[in-house]
Parts: sequence; C-alpha cells; structure tokens
Amino acid sequence: MTLYFIGLGLGDEKDITLKGLETIKKCNKLYLEEYTSKLVRSTRKDLEKFYGKRIISATRDLVENKADDTILKDAKKTNVAFLIIGDPFSATTHVDLKLRADALKIKTEIIPNTSIINAIGITGIDLYKFGRTTTIPFDNKNITSPYEVIKNNLKNNLHTLVLLDLDPSHKKYMTVNQALDYLLKLGLPQTQFCIGCAGIGGKDPTIKAGKAKDLQKKRFSKYPQCMIVASKLHFMEEEAINKWA
Ligand SMILES: C[S@@+](CC[C@H](N)C(=O)[O-])C[C@H]1O[C@@H](n2cnc3c(N)ncnc32)[C@H](O)[C@@H]1O
Repeated sequence: MTLYFIGLGLGDEKDITLKGLETIKKCNKLYLEEYTSKLVRSTRKDLEKFYGKRIISATRDLVENKADDTILKDAKKTNVAFLIIGDPFSATTHVDLKLRADALKIKTEIIPNTSIINAIGITGIDLYKFGRTTTIPFDNKNITSPYEVIKNNLKNNLHTLVLLDLDPSHKKYMTVNQALDYLLKLGLPQTQFCIGCAGIGGKDPTIKAGKAKDLQKKRFSKYPQCMIVASKLHFMEEEAINKWA
C-alpha cells in the first residue's frame, strides 16, 4: 500500500500529469490539501467530477494533527492519494507527512508538478537570479521580515518572489495592492520596479509591471496572487518585461 504525494499544477483539473492521473485511478482514498493554495479555475467538486472519485478535504488540522487517524491510517491498508496544488514539495513542503509515513514504514511516492516557484518564469524574469522567497502574512502589523528579505536580496542583486497569504476556506486572498501598501509603508522606494502576478498557470493570467507606486493603482482580479520585486535587469529580462508594462 502506498501514500502518493501528487502535485496538481496551478490552473485547473487538467494540469495533473498523466502519471498523476493514472495513479489516482489505483487509489481508493483521495485527500486534497486545500489550505495553502488554490487552483486558479477549479474547485474540489471539479476535481471529483474529472476523476470520478470522492475527495476528502484535508485541512491544516487534519494534516498536522490528525494524520495518524486519517491519511496514514488509510495508507497502511490501501493506496492513498494526497493531492497538493502546485508541487508537493515546493513553497509549502509536506516533508513532515512524508517523514511520518517513513517512520511508520508506509511506502511513499512523489509525483511532481509545476509550482508557483518556477511558473513565474512566464514573466521573463530569470529564475537563476532569485534570492530567498518571502511571504507576507495577513497579520503583519509588527512584522518586518519580508521587507528585510527583499532588502537583502536587492543588496545582492537578486530578485525576490513575494508570496501573499491566503485563507481559501474563507475565500480570503491577499492582493498585490495590499502587499504593496504594506511594503511601501515599511520603506520600499516608490520607484522600485515590481511585477504583480495573478492567476499564473490559468488560461489568461494577469501580469503587470512597473514602479511600485504605479503598480499599486492597477487592478488584479484573479487569484491567487504574488509579486516579484525586481533587482537589476538583464537586457533580455527588460525586453521580456516591456510586454507587461
Ligand atoms: C504556499 S504557496 C503554494 C505552494 C504550492 N505547493 C506550489 O508549488 O505552488 C501559495 C502562494 O503562492 C502564490 N501562488 C500560488 N499559486 C499562484 C498562482 N496560480 N498565481 C499567482 N500566485 C500564486 C500565492 O501568493 C499563494 O499565496
């Protein structure tokens, strides 16, 4: 019996890999981790319809505190699919669950997929030139660490991928505009070049580039959203980014 960690990609139910889909066919229990991200265009119901199987919603509490009595218990008896939006071990890592399965001698298999970490390559920004990724939490009144990460990356001529908090169970998603409000208050220069990204991996993603103060006035209506704080640009990056300005 195996616990499969299956990446779903970013856009909709059809972004799963062929290997992921074939694996789901041999699983009797399916769990969907739906607290750390959201497919741009599909819901759990869409996935159920596409796979023709019922999917259990895996809340943070279920994964972090109740896995012994659910996912891991099931995986001792039958094939279980743990479905993760994006890639199973990128940005949000489910290594804890994997280690717990290992400790219980439950066989595991990982089926990777696209992550927001690499899908932002669509902007034309060179993935080799990113420094540490940071996340802006909703509760950020007394938090400066995301801005410290950005400043440090800029000092080292590196771009920053800024992930934005979300709470899919309450349909709450931080926007690029809210993130810029927060960063400008902390001292991000108004002229800092940034790229706002919404619904990447979906059919028609929104990508807009410009100075922080100008970008703040632009509208991003798809979800989830993230942004890039750009460091010094290579001329190829500049040429690619002009498309989004
Ligand atoms: C914890 S990360 C997602 C991790 C996921 N396992 C992955 O590999 O993509 C979630 C954050 O990434 C960003 N994100 C995820 N999907 C996105 C998308 N399709 N478009 C824009 N930003 C996205 C958002 O800032 C979101 O809050």
